[in-house]
Amino acid sequence: MAISEKSFAYGGTVLLALFLRSAISMHGHSGEGVPPMYGDYEAQRHWQEVTVNLPIREWYRNTSDNDLMYWGLDYPPLTAYHSLVVGLAARKVNSSYVELHESRGISTPEHKYFMRWSVLVADLLIYIPAVLFVMRAVSRLVWKRASASSENIAFISTLLALIYPGQILIDNGHFQYNNISLGFMLLAVAFIITDQNVIAAIMFCLALNYKQMELYHALPFFVYLLRECFSGKRQSFTGKIASLIQLGFVVIITFAILWAPWICSFDSFLAVVRRIFPLARGVFEDKVANFWCVFNVVVKLKEKFTNEVMALICLGTTLLAAFPSCVHLFFKPSKVNFLYSLINTSLAFFLFSFQVHEKSILLVALPVLLLTTVETLASQWFALISVFSMFPLLEKDRLVVAFVSTMEVIDESDGCGGKFSALVVSPQFEGKTLIQRHRLVNSALSEELKTIHAFSQKTFTPKQWAEQPTN
Ligand SMILES: *[C@@H]1O[C@H](CO)[C@@H](O)[C@H](O)[C@H]1NC(C)=O
Ligand SMILES: *[C@@H]1O[C@H](CO)[C@@H](O)[C@H](O)[C@H]1NC(C)=O
Repeated sequence: MAISEKSFAYGGTVLLALFLRSAISMHGHSGEGVPPMYGDYEAQRHWQEVTVNLPIREWYRNTSDNDLMYWGLDYPPLTAYHSLVVGLAARKVNSSYVELHESRGISTPEHKYFMRWSVLVADLLIYIPAVLFVMRAVSRLVWKRASASSENIAFISTLLALIYPGQILIDNGHFQYNNISLGFMLLAVAFIITDQNVIAAIMFCLALNYKQMELYHALPFFVYLLRECFSGKRQSFTGKIASLIQLGFVVIITFAILWAPWICSFDSFLAVVRRIFPLARGVFEDKVANFWCVFNVVVKLKEKFTNEVMALICLGTTLLAAFPSCVHLFFKPSKVNFLYSLINTSLAFFLFSFQVHEKSILLVALPVLLLTTVETLASQWFALISVFSMFPLLEKDRLVVAFVSTMEVIDESDGCGGKFSALVVSPQFEGKTLIQRHRLVNSALSEELKTIHAFSQKTFTPKQWAEQPTN
């Protein structure tokens, strides 16, 4: 690809990514019109209300103004700060959005636009730049010398990661900000690949302090960075120790800054930790493709073990499952092995850890997408199946038409952009004629289609799709 062609291709890809995200934004979100608790959308709004109105020390505490039984904050401090920033913006737009006690369950079209925009801003500022950066780093890592075909594969992997429906459906549909923690994690990976380990450590601390689920990726970062400190590249023993101290120092400082309001007293520190790791919620809540959920069919875990014992069992089995991959990375430390280790350990956490949600598959899918350049077929299959595994959740949120976007939007014009075809598989097509199916898709995308000059579509019911010979 020539320079100008390349910038058009990548520019078009970013526009397509934003277009899909805004199209999905028009669909339902979790808990829409379902009192008294509503869903994740209301949880995020409620955190804005709490952080804007209450002093920092009360954010994680049960008080008369902060009933923790109603969506109490249960993510680490960076999420709370982010809620504060979005909440301040909300108050500027319309103070009724974050009024203490009065704003519960608010759901006007204007408020929905506001919330949807806040996710798009995070996509635009963090997630999309992170994907572009990390995919470039990975392709340079895999191919030492660039060629036409390597550039094409790099482009396709970037496209796939940017339009990966799992993240779009959960963040811009269901409603969450995984794009922020996943974005920081991808930035950390990119900095590891480009040998900027200190910045990588800071980025990963930010990811971990946005969502504790980033623990799924923590072991490979720890093992790789530890190994880097002691690699042969640094000559003297004191040099090695110095680089270890430097990394440790950076991590502690980052944590200390983020946790500053709560580390003055052990009591308030413990209050936050208890909120972030809620043992009382049990080993699983919904049905998830997790080992314990399956095992529960044979042995009723919740009756046999207390939550504390169960948490220890989960910790032990998770570490055991992640152990081989970490040992491998320790003895054969390479950047490609680091990427594989991210997949293996996050899968170990998904299968065996405590309180796994179906959405957690995103934490496995992202590292898998990073390896599209190496494992093209396997990673595409994983991406598709991972989206399908979240179907029950999406159905609950009335996102079935949005599941439409479990489409492979294929750039037909060899990287020139502008012309798209969509493959749409949806149960809503059952019993509909081809024309009716196309109308359904066109009406879902009506506004956006005006800006794309060529758009073709193939529509299948899930059953027909399964019967396709070439797929
Ligand atoms: C928190 O406070 C509310 C009243 O403000 C009370 O109803 C609730 O039971 C308390 N929850 C906990 C976990 O203490
Ligand atoms: C703010 O939102 C409320 C609904 O929550 C609405 O009734 C009111 O008109 C809005 N105010 C402005 C200035 O848009």
